[in-house]
Amino acid sequence: MSRKIGMWMYQNGGGDIIEEKIVKKLRERDITTITGMNPRNAVARNGVIYNNNVRSDELDLFFSYNAGEQTQYQVFLYQAMNRIMPMINSYEAFALTEDKFQTSFLLQNNGVATPDFQLCHRDDVSILKAIIKEWDKMVYKPTDGWGGLGLTKIENEATLDTLLPFLNQMDLRFFYVEKFLKYDNTDFRVDIVDGEFVSCYGRKASGTDWRTNITSGGSVFMREANDEVVDLAKRAAEVCKIDIAGVDIIYDMEREEYVVLEVNGIPAFATPEQEKEGLDLNDKKIDLIVDLIDRKTKK
Ligand SMILES: Nc1ncnc2c1ncn2[C@@H]1O[C@H](COP(=O)(O)OP(=O)(O)O)[C@@H](O)[C@H]1O
Ligand SMILES: [Mg+2]
Repeated sequence: MSRKIGMWMYQNGGGDIIEEKIVKKLRERDITTITGMNPRNAVARNGVIYNNNVRSDELDLFFSYNAGEQTQYQVFLYQAMNRIMPMINSYEAFALTEDKFQTSFLLQNNGVATPDFQLCHRDDVSILKAIIKEWDKMVYKPTDGWGGLGLTKIENEATLDTLLPFLNQMDLRFFYVEKFLKYDNTDFRVDIVDGEFVSCYGRKASGTDWRTNITSGGSVFMREANDEVVDLAKRAAEVCKIDIAGVDIIYDMEREEYVVLEVNGIPAFATPEQEKEGLDLNDKKIDLIVDLIDRKTKK
C-alpha cells in the first residue's frame, strides 16, 4: 500500500517553494503528500480527525511546520494527532521547545550549557532583587516568545524597580530571568535534522539593539561552524529529542564557553533573497527531512 502524509507548512518567505520541493521528492519515493492541512480547519469526531475531507486514519505521518500560526486550537489538535501517528516534530519536542524555561531546565540537567537562569513565582519579587545583585545585569524573557519580542534587559536594581509595576500589570504566573551574558553581539544559528548537522550561519545585532534577531534589526552573515558549536547543537537536539531544530548559540566571554540560548522547533529555511546572498542550506535540509519522513513511514 502506498504511503500518504499530511503537511502544514508556512507559505511566506519562500516556504511555498520549499514545500513543492519536499512534495516532489516524496513523490519520487511513492509517498503522497496532502498539503495545506491547517489544523484550524479540522474537526475531531469520535476517534477521527477530519481536515478538508481527509481522515486522520488515512495518514502515515503529519509534518507540521508553521511557526507563524499556533493557536490553542491548533496546538490542541497537534497533541491529539501525535497520539495516533508519527509527527515531525513530535508534539513532545514541539511543546518542550516552545518554552524556554522547560528547555533550559532540561538542557542543564543533561550537561548542556545555557545562561544561568532563575524562575520564581510572581509574588517573590525579593528573589529577583537578590539575584540582580549577584548577576549585575539580567534579561527578563517571556518563556514562549520569539524574535526577541518581550525580552527586556535589566541593567540594575533601579531598572528592575521601574519595570516591576509594568510586569505586575500583566497577568504573569512567574518570572523567568537569565543572567545577561557578556558576548560579542553575534550568535550562531545551527540547523540540525535527524541528528545531523545541516548548516550554520551567524547573526549580528544592529548597533542600536543588543539582540541578534532579524526582527530586532539584526542581520545574517556567513559563518563557519566549529566542532564545539556543532557538537553543542547536536547535543541540545538530542536531549530535546527533536527531529528538526535550529539551535541558537552564543559565546559567553566570562565563562569562556559556548552556551545554548534556545532551541527553535520550526527554524525557517533560507529565503530566496538569503539564498541569493549565498546562504546555502535548503537542499541539504530538504534531503534530510525527506529521508526522515521515508524512514518514519516505512511499513
Ligand atoms: N542571557 C542573555 N544574555 C545576553 N543576550 C541574550 C541573552 N538571551 C538572549 N539574548 C539576546 O537576545 C536574542 C533573543 O533571545 P532568544 O533567547 O533567542 O529569544 P527569541 O526566541 O526571542 O529569539 C538572542 O539572539 C541574543 O542576542
Ligand atoms: Mg532566538
